[in-house]
Amino acid sequence: MEKEEERGHILGVAYPTQGHISPIHQLCKRLLSKGIKTTLTLTTFAHTSISPNPPHGSVSLATFSDGFDHGGISAAESIHHYLRRFQTVGSQTLAQVIRQHQSSDHPITCVVYDAFLPWCLDVAKDFGLVAAPFFTQTCAVNYIYYLAYQEKLELPIDGLTFLEPQDLPSFLSVPGSYPAYHEMVLNQFSNLGKANFVLVNVFEKLEVKETELLSRVCPLLTVGPTLPSLYLDKRIKTDENYDLMLFDPKGVESCKDWLNERPKGSVVYVAFGSLAELCNAQMEELAWALSKFSFIWVVRDSEETKLPSGFAESLVKDKALVVKWSPQLEVLSNRAIGCFLTHCGWNSTMEAVSLGVPMVAMPQWTDQPTNAKYVEDVWKVGICVKADEENGIVKREEIEFCIKEVMEGERSRGVKENAKKWRDLAVEALAEGGTSDVNIDTLVSACL
Ligand code: UDX
Repeated sequence: MEKEEERGHILGVAYPTQGHISPIHQLCKRLLSKGIKTTLTLTTFAHTSISPNPPHGSVSLATFSDGFDHGGISAAESIHHYLRRFQTVGSQTLAQVIRQHQSSDHPITCVVYDAFLPWCLDVAKDFGLVAAPFFTQTCAVNYIYYLAYQEKLELPIDGLTFLEPQDLPSFLSVPGSYPAYHEMVLNQFSNLGKANFVLVNVFEKLEVKETELLSRVCPLLTVGPTLPSLYLDKRIKTDENYDLMLFDPKGVESCKDWLNERPKGSVVYVAFGSLAELCNAQMEELAWALSKFSFIWVVRDSEETKLPSGFAESLVKDKALVVKWSPQLEVLSNRAIGCFLTHCGWNSTMEAVSLGVPMVAMPQWTDQPTNAKYVEDVWKVGICVKADEENGIVKREEIEFCIKEVMEGERSRGVKENAKKWRDLAVEALAEGGTSDVNIDTLVSACL
């Protein structure tokens, strides 16, 4: 992109879900902008699912196989089976990608892989390459998983004493839920001792204590946030979008036009990322809570049948927009948005933090409860809803209360001021000489 290419070639390896493809692709764009050739490897299934094709002249793409070229994880009989096969077939096909490049003009010198795929390190080391896992979740979450991997996780955690049992990632706080993912998140640490660098998608000032704790156990480099440069430092002129979307962006224009007609700070944006599924009762509570506001709600195809009948078409038609997928960054940065009701997936949280948008946190699973705790109590950029103790459902009155509180209530001013402060620090981290910028340079220098 910006600079002349030098020697060296970094191969990124993505885990094939939206919340993982976007951040590693963005990191690859940053690396490319530093003048090092960069290629991103996607599974064949993810590659065929992406629409539209990425713009010419950006990061090169390569493909490897997870063993399910026609269907990905949904074609596997279980998560466990998928991850096992991914490791076997993925190792072989990743090695093929590297081998093909080794006889070209641009041999691979470094593999940056999603930390969910620790076996990539072994493949990289077989070729004698620099290897760096990229963690797409926070240092706090990674440190907790590290302690669990070491069988040293006990509350209170030294240095993070404010964390209570319910604030831990769900794979730990809900024993027996998703055993295959539980194994996967702990395995991230199985061969970390051999990694040259450990990259994390945060910026240092956001997690001062947490980066210090994690630095004690691995060669940490914070490299985030991975939002497109246009939304932060604006140094990479061509980096305006995430580009690689597994979801059909059809109809996204409607969000922009609709928002441009609304008053400043008047709209609630509601989205639960690419994976979370709410139960019918929760969808209903949410729907009736939202009906009190003007809102945009992303309801993916797979969730649509859970809406109360006639909800989008007639009941809230005049003041709301229900879409299957949104241009989230454009929406969040529109002046009409007053708050973001989010599941606290790490990308969504980082996007809100980086764009200075206050949040109502409604975590569902995985790292989201921990992120929500930080949103409310550490960064103080939002409020977390409280679920009913008996059935785990968040009632409509509670959702309504939290939205009002963030938009115009007692805590509104403080939350908005904090949101602005974190936004400035996010930009600073990626500006020339900022902590993340310097760390990215460190990685590049080691790969030349
Ligand atoms: C998952 C996990 O749930 C999350 O907790 C983890 O940290 C990363 O992987 P996901 O649930 O999809 O990701 O949430 P999130 O991390 O927020 O990523 C979703 C991405 O999709 C965001 O970058 C968001 O901008 C984008 N998005 C979402 C859209 O572009 N449009 C939408 O309508 C919804």
